[in-house]
Amino acid sequence: MRSLRVGLAGVGRFGRLHAAALARLPGVQLAALADSDGPLLETVADRHGVEARYRDVLDLIGDDSLDAIVLATPDELHFQQATAALTKGRHLFIEKPMAGTWREASLLRNQAKESGVHLQVGMILRYEMSHRLLYQQVVSGRFGRLVSIQCRRNCSRTSFAKIADRIHTVYRTLVHDIDLLLWLTGSRVDLVMSLEYREGSHLAPEGCFALLRLESGCVAQLESSWFVPEKAPANLVGDAWNGCIDSGLSVVGTCRSARIEGLKSPLQVWTDQGSQCPDAVLWPELDGQVHGALRDQLEDFVLSIRQARRSTVACLDSAVESIRIAEAIVDSSRTGNPVRLGATPQSD
Ligand SMILES: NC(=O)c1ccc[n+]([C@@H]2O[C@H](COP(=O)([O-])OP(=O)(O)OC[C@H]3O[C@@H](n4cnc5c(N)ncnc54)[C@H](O)[C@@H]3O)[C@@H](O)[C@H]2O)c1
Repeated sequence: MRSLRVGLAGVGRFGRLHAAALARLPGVQLAALADSDGPLLETVADRHGVEARYRDVLDLIGDDSLDAIVLATPDELHFQQATAALTKGRHLFIEKPMAGTWREASLLRNQAKESGVHLQVGMILRYEMSHRLLYQQVVSGRFGRLVSIQCRRNCSRTSFAKIADRIHTVYRTLVHDIDLLLWLTGSRVDLVMSLEYREGSHLAPEGCFALLRLESGCVAQLESSWFVPEKAPANLVGDAWNGCIDSGLSVVGTCRSARIEGLKSPLQVWTDQGSQCPDAVLWPELDGQVHGALRDQLEDFVLSIRQARRSTVACLDSAVESIRIAEAIVDSSRTGNPVRLGATPQSD
């Protein structure tokens, strides 16, 4: 069987990890790269021996030798680039968030369904082993009925400037937790209340706090802010990363409860600059290779295309619904009113 020819758009901080993972995935040829930053494009392409190099993502999308495209470009470009890729009939993996509005996300889903291509969104936590083990227990019924879920995703203060005027915090970080919530409960969110903490007048609030009710009766609290101090233990310590995501998930059921602490790495390193607990599960880099959940989700993307089946882990409807809930969270913070979500008009 010939290799699946994959093109990657965006070789920035996260795209470089995608490139390293794709370059070593069995049955895959990382056949083309695109980035508007010429020197960066050359460096990453040379590193992985990729010949086709484009400064314009639309040229990569127009390369008819490609079977599939991975988009790791800035969030605000996803919808336009994804629309172009789907119009060309390419299988598509989009980093989260898949689009900036629920309408746009729904359009992408419909377009993918109509053209029969595989569309997957980078909800990486579904592929992280602790979350998968928890999910297995929850769906097997061992937790009984889910009573409450708390999600925390607090990021380094120093990372805020990069996103402050580009994307709202809910779309940048909380979409991960919204998707987790839908996945773990298998239920719809029907009520959203939220508040923001703001220090400036940026597009993104520095803090975002939401209380959600699911149709199942479960209540969820989500929190994301950008105040983790510089000297907090760093779990992002790769070439392109430096900082901390202080994340946590707590699940209470009528029979069991559980928690996952994102900073509880078994590896602790102390340096003169501060302490580190390097990520060993999401996208650890070792000898130029990327392992963990990022690699596993790309492998699932490729296998879903090869076997012409849906992913058993990723869920496009949930990714679309996450954007709908993100919109409701932003709306509730803006108006100060709760938002009731009606039935989902389109689903599988
Ligand atoms: N799943 C996760 O946990 C996770 C983590 C980090 C980032 N991400 C997502 O990955 C995506 C990329 O994030 P990042 O942190 O790597 O951003 P980044 O800014 O570091 O990289 C973006 C790259 O796109 C290039 N680019 C910008 N405009 C372009 C254009 N018009 N045409 C071609 N290239 C262009 C830039 O030169 C840059 O190299 C975002 O959607 C982000 O939300 C996901």
